[in-house]
Order: sequence, then C-alpha cells, then structure tokens
Amino acid sequence: MDPIQNFYTEHPYPFSGDHNLYFEKNIYPKVKELNPKKILDAGCGTGGTSACIARCYPSAEILAIDYSKTALEIAKKRHQEIKNLSFDEINLKEPLPFQQEYDFINCHGVLHYFDDPVFVLKQFRRILKNDGFVHLWLFNPYARRGIDDVIELERILAGSSNSVSRRIQAFKAIRKYYTGIIKDEEADRYWEDLDINDESENNRFKYTRLANRYFLPSQPYYYSVETASKMFNEAGFKLEKVIDFAQRKLPNELLSSFETPPTEEITWHVFEVLEQPFGLSYLLKVM
Ligand SMILES: C[S@@+](CC[C@H](N)C(=O)[O-])C[C@H]1O[C@@H](n2cnc3c(N)ncnc32)[C@H](O)[C@@H]1O
Repeated sequence: MDPIQNFYTEHPYPFSGDHNLYFEKNIYPKVKELNPKKILDAGCGTGGTSACIARCYPSAEILAIDYSKTALEIAKKRHQEIKNLSFDEINLKEPLPFQQEYDFINCHGVLHYFDDPVFVLKQFRRILKNDGFVHLWLFNPYARRGIDDVIELERILAGSSNSVSRRIQAFKAIRKYYTGIIKDEEADRYWEDLDINDESENNRFKYTRLANRYFLPSQPYYYSVETASKMFNEAGFKLEKVIDFAQRKLPNELLSSFETPPTEEITWHVFEVLEQPFGLSYLLKVM
C-alpha cells in the first residue's frame, strides 16, 4: 500500500459532511446548464461531495471511486439511499477501466498527491467526451507556506523517531509557546484539547481535519494558477475558470494603475500572494 493510501485507510476523509455543500454552492451554479448525464467523482473519500453532486443532477448516473477501502465502506453505508450514485475501488495511478463515456469528472482535493498528475489528467481526457468538463480543487502554495514551516519544526523536534505521536507533541509545543507561527483558524479551533488516544467521535473528527494538514505521510504538491494551467494544457485541457469559494475580489484596482494591463494569469498571481487561499477550484474543458 502506498503511504497516502495507508493514511486515508486509517483516516477516511472527510470524517463527516460534504465541505458545507461546496459543490452545490460554488461549482453547480457555474455548470448547471451543461447537464451532464454520466459523471465520475475521482478520489471521492467518504462520498459527501459525490452525494452532493448526485442531488444536484438527479437524472445523471454518478460513479465515485477511491482506493481507500475504509472510506468506500463509509461512503456506501452513508449514501445508500441515493439511487443514482455508486462506488467502486479504483486506483487512479493505474489506467482507468473506462471508454470515452463521461460528461463530467469531479476531482476534489486529490491531484496534489500525485508525482505524475499529468498521467491522471490524460486518463481523464481519454474517458471524457469532447464536449465534457472537469472540476478540480487543488492546494495553492502561498497559504501553505506557514503550514510547511510548522511541519518543518515538527520534523526537527520529533527527531529521528518522526512518529505521529512525537509530531503531535512537537505541534502542541509549537502551538503553546509560539502561537504566532500557526496562523490557521482550524488549528486554533481543533487543536487545544486534542488527544490522540481519545477515540470519541468528536476527537476523531478534529484529528482527521488536522492530520490532513499537518500529518500527511508525504509532502503534497502545490499549484498556483500558472503552474496548474500549464499542467492542464500538457494533458489536453484548457482552463475555463478559476473559482475562489470565498469570492474575494481580484486586485483589479491595484493593477489598473499599470500602463500595460496585466494578463489574467498575472492578476491571479497577485491575488494568490495577497489573499493566500488554501486552495482554488478549476473548471476545465477539452482543448
Ligand atoms: C483529501 S481526500 C478528498 C476526498 C473527497 N474528494 C472530498 O473532497 O471530500 C483525498 C482522497 O483521494 C484519495 N486518493 C488519493 N490518491 C488516490 C489514488 N491513487 N487512487 C484513488 N484514490 C486516491 C484518497 O484515498 C482520499 O480519499
């Protein structure tokens, strides 16, 4: 089992819910009229987002796939009443066992774990109809610089054992003595009373949320709008739209004073540095 598979088998994600109806609120309004009939949710985890998609498109057929057996078990149990949704165990690192049959592929919070994301995107391209579309959510580099600093300190303090419990101990020490370095509301909300030996629902929920940021077994990849769009082009997709769920304003005012109007990419780059989103959504179409 690869370390990421191992991690998501031990900590199926998300612990509950569907990221506050992320798909329905932020993506569906922009793609509603495309009316896809056949949908793949790639890397579905415990299926909250898949269920949300299935409710948005009640006449579509949705297949949600993942390689974490435990996440799939929870997903099946949790969403068994949704008739247009099914789940299957499939590894996205292997060639996908489908023809060119999908109208829409959703892949939320998954692609940043791959050393070769272009391979996965090319698979998506192969099984997507020519008028199909893709939604991806990817980690963005700027907000995550702070997380990386904390992870580095954890590694130094955990020393050679580098076990999760040592890293938690290190995290707690950093959190206690240097509150300034962890600028993360989620950590503030969930960390204080976390106890790794406490198996209660509430504690597992908090642990799963934090582990996804601070205890991943390997460093995920981060994508700016610029690096993401290069990767999309390489796989035969064009970037149609970038979506920031918080709907923060683009820095057009700041940039309007420049003689040459900045490109869209530069505008997003300035936005990323100024606003530091944890991640962004991307809507893609076939090139
Ligand atoms: C952060 S979770 C996201 C779950 C879900 N998409 C969501 O947004 O709630 C990442 C998921 O990607 C899955 N994943 C990562 N690499 C995968 C691979 N090679 N094949 C299948 N699933 C994979 C993990 O098992 C995990 O469930």
